[in-house]
Amino acid sequence: MPTLTAVIDLDLPGATISRHVYGHFAEHLGRCIYGGFWVGEDSSVPNVRGIRADVVEALRAIRIPNLRWPGGCFADDYHWRDGIGPRNQRPRMVNSHWGDVVEDNSFGTHEFMDLCEMLDAEPYVNGNVGSGTVREMSEWVEYLTRGDDSPMAALRRQNGRDEPWTVPFFGIGNEPWGCGGNMSAEHYADLARQYATYVRNHGDNTVYKIAAGANSDDYAWTEALMKVSSKLGCGCDPRGFFQGVSLHYYTINGDWDDKGDATRFSTDDWYVTMKRARRIEELVRGHANVMDAYDPERRIGLVVDEWGTWWNVEDGTNPGFLYQQNTLRDALVASVHLDVFHRYAHRVSMANIAQTVNVLQAMLLTDPETGALVLTPTYHVFAMNTGHHDAGALDVRFKGEVPTRTVEGAQVPLLSASASTKDDSALVSLSNLDADEATTVVLDLRGRDVTGHTAQVLTAPALQAHNTAEHPDAVAPAPHTGVRPHPQGLEVDLPAHSYVTVQLALA
Ligand code: AHR
Repeated sequence: MPTLTAVIDLDLPGATISRHVYGHFAEHLGRCIYGGFWVGEDSSVPNVRGIRADVVEALRAIRIPNLRWPGGCFADDYHWRDGIGPRNQRPRMVNSHWGDVVEDNSFGTHEFMDLCEMLDAEPYVNGNVGSGTVREMSEWVEYLTRGDDSPMAALRRQNGRDEPWTVPFFGIGNEPWGCGGNMSAEHYADLARQYATYVRNHGDNTVYKIAAGANSDDYAWTEALMKVSSKLGCGCDPRGFFQGVSLHYYTINGDWDDKGDATRFSTDDWYVTMKRARRIEELVRGHANVMDAYDPERRIGLVVDEWGTWWNVEDGTNPGFLYQQNTLRDALVASVHLDVFHRYAHRVSMANIAQTVNVLQAMLLTDPETGALVLTPTYHVFAMNTGHHDAGALDVRFKGEVPTRTVEGAQVPLLSASASTKDDSALVSLSNLDADEATTVVLDLRGRDVTGHTAQVLTAPALQAHNTAEHPDAVAPAPHTGVRPHPQGLEVDLPAHSYVTVQLALA
């Protein structure tokens, strides 16, 4: 087999990879909030003020940078005033999007902000455009972030919080093309400007406002937003109406009526998934191109605030709760997406995998009966990648032929890679998407001296391998011994269906 070389100029970092591309998402959906993050103060599951202690610990370990809440589709049904004040007096509502269950609002603004403080994560609050008012959104921001004796600051104090919180990220609605109001792009673009005008910067709090963006390849939606983003009127934030435009893209294996099974899939299914996951590159490139035309200075960020796998729900669970298992396949879907976010660090300012606990491509699964916590294979990819947070993106240029496979009529490259550098270290990420064949890559490391290395590998005998309470480490990272010195740098073995990271010490 001819040698495949990956050339990396260690001395030529490009844009900084924002740690916020490692963001997460927690919606009032199924067992994400209730039973995931929130168990209540009286639970036998160890908790701090109602929030699961082990969930906090696990997410702190992967340095969760931000958390998006309360939705998703739920955000445009949510009225924040229902979620403040004494818990036993909060009004109830129907969560019509997700399971048609009654929501008792016991997890609201104060609980979410408490959670973010425990996680040391920055809050990304998503406001309601679909069924909410401009005044409601404006007052929520005042409640959260104002320090003096304004009406909303006084109400917050009355509810037990003296100091304002810092809220750096605020979403102007969610999926207005669908569950968020079924609007046209032009109608929403006007509303986004209107609502964003009243999302004010109080005191020292400066909000990065995120307009609700496109579904998948709807480039016309992004264009409609970019067209209005720069037309400044009086009384506006000098930075423009919004600083981010979002994008949602989910990886499914079939169609939306039958998305494929999370754990029972064939090798062919594996390749279809990889092809569809790799499509994120085409989408990011496409939306970035539209944005470049209107914003060549790249002041507005692309915020991929929903991404990940979406399978058929696990047998026997509520179809509206979107609970699914998470295999090695999910891990490689994650690594492929993260590579793209690294490569487009100049435009992608934030990303949020959906969703943190018990919903879709989760980091963590909790057992409703025993309370056991399981770390998913996807969690381990996030753990292995913490070295990319706020590091300078490095180009990885392949020399030689990257193995490919024909999937659904297209040639799909079976190797994905990215790299970054920070201070005296660099991190190289390598995904071998080949279900059956191992391969070896020579890292041609240029520009700086490499004084040492360590490596980790995430793989398992079966593509379908996943973690459960009984077998929590069926898929877990291990030290990788298949890395050898090479005249050009290092030679790295990549087992079939594996994710490998190589950490370099640089002189
Ligand atoms: O993440 C689940 C749902 O997917 C979100 O609520 C919605 O925004 C998207 O359609």
